Amino acid sequence: MTDQKNHPPVRSKENFLVFGSPLIGEAEIEEVASCLKSGWLGTGPKVARFEEEFKAYQKAPYAVAVNSCTAALHLSILAAGLKPGDEVITTPLTFCATVNAVIHAGATPVLADVDPATMNIDPARVAAKITPRTRAILPVHFAGRPCDMTALAALAEQHGLKLIEDCAHATETEYRGRKAGTFGDFGCFSFYVTKNVVTGEGGMVLARREVDAARIKMLALHGMSKDAWKRFGDEGYKHYFVVECGFKYNMMDMQAAIGIHQLARVEENWRRREEIWQCYQDTFSDLPLRLPAPVAPDTRHGYHLYTVLVDQERTGIGRDAFLDAMTAENIGVGVHYLSIPEHPYYQERFGWRPEDYPHAMRIGRQTVSLPLSSKLTDDDVRDVILAVNRSLRVE
Ligand SMILES: Cc1ncc(COP(=O)(O)O)c(C=O)c1O
Repeated sequence: MTDQKNHPPVRSKENFLVFGSPLIGEAEIEEVASCLKSGWLGTGPKVARFEEEFKAYQKAPYAVAVNSCTAALHLSILAAGLKPGDEVITTPLTFCATVNAVIHAGATPVLADVDPATMNIDPARVAAKITPRTRAILPVHFAGRPCDMTALAALAEQHGLKLIEDCAHATETEYRGRKAGTFGDFGCFSFYVTKNVVTGEGGMVLARREVDAARIKMLALHGMSKDAWKRFGDEGYKHYFVVECGFKYNMMDMQAAIGIHQLARVEENWRRREEIWQCYQDTFSDLPLRLPAPVAPDTRHGYHLYTVLVDQERTGIGRDAFLDAMTAENIGVGVHYLSIPEHPYYQERFGWRPEDYPHAMRIGRQTVSLPLSSKLTDDDVRDVILAVNRSLRVE
């Protein structure tokens, strides 16, 4: 722990550096104000514009906005036609929403361990988990680093499986010149407040087929027939019909108002995060931490998270003590993620044990995410670096 007697904290309590705080510009504020003044707060023209612009940015055929990535995943799995008993292979190193969406859709999650260097699902382990009940593969582009999409797409093709990409970290990610989220039948994005593009809460599905996009749009608004959101518009009242038992997963114009301007600055913000990521890589290279693997050739990292591994044997400090030390310096940190089998619900329901997924378990027990928001100033980055050094007692 930091010796508080020798040093005041790197930052004052009032100036606590909040992990993942988004960069919100005047343009977002003005667009939200104009949305409020227009009185059209719910799903409407701004959502339609956000969908168009996101689709163009991703060079994807179809995009449907929803109110979270969790909703995007749930609806994609339903639109993929999965039924109870069908298995979906995913990673143990993810947020619970990935696995919960599979369960909500009535399917059965199956875990395949990650590659210890990339922290992404290992295609060889996916192959080993394929059974006659497997219907889909659900890779997560962890931290913004693309998965091995050549190998995963080949497995999906060979076994007739759906491919659903969790792109919650991966808005800007590319693999061999192609955008993450366009390899699969579905790509699911998050605009949660800490993500690369934010709308507060929000999500998007990229779909390869028009029929899937249309079904997702319908399921996201109670299962009501096409364009039901227009029923209160100026073209006169439109009757709608409920054609399926859907959900309340639609995005609001209030959210899209933020997203449109976030998306306009997506590359600028990405460049800033790349700069910070590289600065951490260079500065920490002499420390007894395990740093992220370099970015693989012919790929583009989304730079959503900068994660280091704190191995007590090398550092003399355990991960949780390191988290506490950083917090004592008033620097916010994160953990992405304790592996899925560490959680009691999944242990009880599926009998999963952390040690059966040893790479994800070790990463989950050693990992710390340092601040990487494009909002960080050079002074903020300097404070993070100083706090890391002090927490490791090398300063
Ligand atoms: C990998 C991953 N998948 C899914 C989600 C769920 O996203 P949302 O909060 O938009 O539902 C998250 C959110 O943190 C995530 O990190």
